[in-house]
Amino acid sequence: MTTRAIDQLGRALTDLRVSVTDRCNFRCTYCMPRERFGPDHAFLERHELLSFEEIATVVRVLTGFGLRKVRLPGGEPLVRRDLPRLVGLIAALDGIDDLALTTNGSLLPRHADALAEAGLDRVSVSLDSVDERVFAAMADTSVPLRAVLDGIEAALAAGLTPVKANAVIRRGVNDDGIVDLARYGRERGVVVRFIEFMDVGRTNGWRLDEVVPAEELLARLDEAFPLEPVDGGPEGQVAERYRYRDGGGEVGVITSVSQPFCGTCTRARLSAIGELFTCLFAVGGTDLRAALRDGGTDGDLAAIVRGVWEARTDRYSELRSGATRDLPRVEMSYIGG
Ligand code: GTP
Ligand code: 5AD
Ligand code: SF4
Ligand code: SF4
Repeated sequence: MTTRAIDQLGRALTDLRVSVTDRCNFRCTYCMPRERFGPDHAFLERHELLSFEEIATVVRVLTGFGLRKVRLPGGEPLVRRDLPRLVGLIAALDGIDDLALTTNGSLLPRHADALAEAGLDRVSVSLDSVDERVFAAMADTSVPLRAVLDGIEAALAAGLTPVKANAVIRRGVNDDGIVDLARYGRERGVVVRFIEFMDVGRTNGWRLDEVVPAEELLARLDEAFPLEPVDGGPEGQVAERYRYRDGGGEVGVITSVSQPFCGTCTRARLSAIGELFTCLFAVGGTDLRAALRDGGTDGDLAAIVRGVWEARTDRYSELRSGATRDLPRVEMSYIGG
């Protein structure tokens, strides 16, 4: 039986993002800057992580609230061994009609087929530039751009579609490459989403003057490839959608800074060690692992989640105020995008 949970601002819990690891083989400057995520960084230990069965239990309990959409981000989810097994467990649950992965793409050539066979619906791949040098500078990795592009091809071939490419845009760093990215998306049938650089976490040196507002991005794209808005789409989605007027496909912009979308935010997040977060910009979460490991029933878990969700008032991106800006916010690689 489904009994929806509604928060203080009238938002239902329908989406869950499950971080499966806080580790990543890239060091994107806006997410895991190498000087803060170096050899001494204390990553989570293996035994701390929720098992795949524990994650599937949480997802199953949340389907009782009307959860329909699950996304697996990381860190980099594919550095966790045997991820297709988790995909299989979640895909087998009643009620989940959209199961997706957010990945840097580098390990997709190896895993795309197994993920598709296990029941994954689609992937979104981080891709900030199609210029080898700019890509390498932003992702701060020795993995070549070619590997990511091959990963996208593997996802397309495996039917993990629509494949989306997420490009975080920083002024003066990669904003001169947006038309090339759009052209790539048109040629390969990939939906490129241009993301405003966000002040998530505390380590990425965010500055407002590096944010290229979506309105400006759209104007620049429209000049190269005329666009028109696409109406509708699922409630609570983060991207504003546009299509090329010549039939060349779709693009999106994610306007967390210039036009926040907290009003329709139906997303909960589960950290790799089983903390439930109700906002990407939260300082802390609520532990579910103890209940999972100490013999708690589904009813016990559901009661914890309901209590947290019904008390929820988060709307960080709408506030972005002096009062909240300096709080010790959790890192993106930990909470899972
Ligand atoms: P779709 O279901 O394909 O629309 O995926 P998605 O856009 O929800 O997920 P994805 O992991 O591809 O994230 C794209 C960008 O949106 C990333 O930069 C995320 O951090 C950002 N994002 C996702 N959810 C939220 C959110 O609730 N709040 C904010 N501020 N940003 C978010
Ligand atoms: N601002 C905006 N998007 C970000 N991502 C990571 N860090 C940031 C940031 N500071 C994006 C990545 C990935 C998704 C989960 O979040 O590109 O695609
Ligand atoms: Fe890794 Fe993704 Fe963060 Fe880049 S954005 S460091 S690929 S988790
Ligand atoms: Fe949701 Fe928080 Fe993002 Fe607003 S800032 S959309 S409340 S996760």
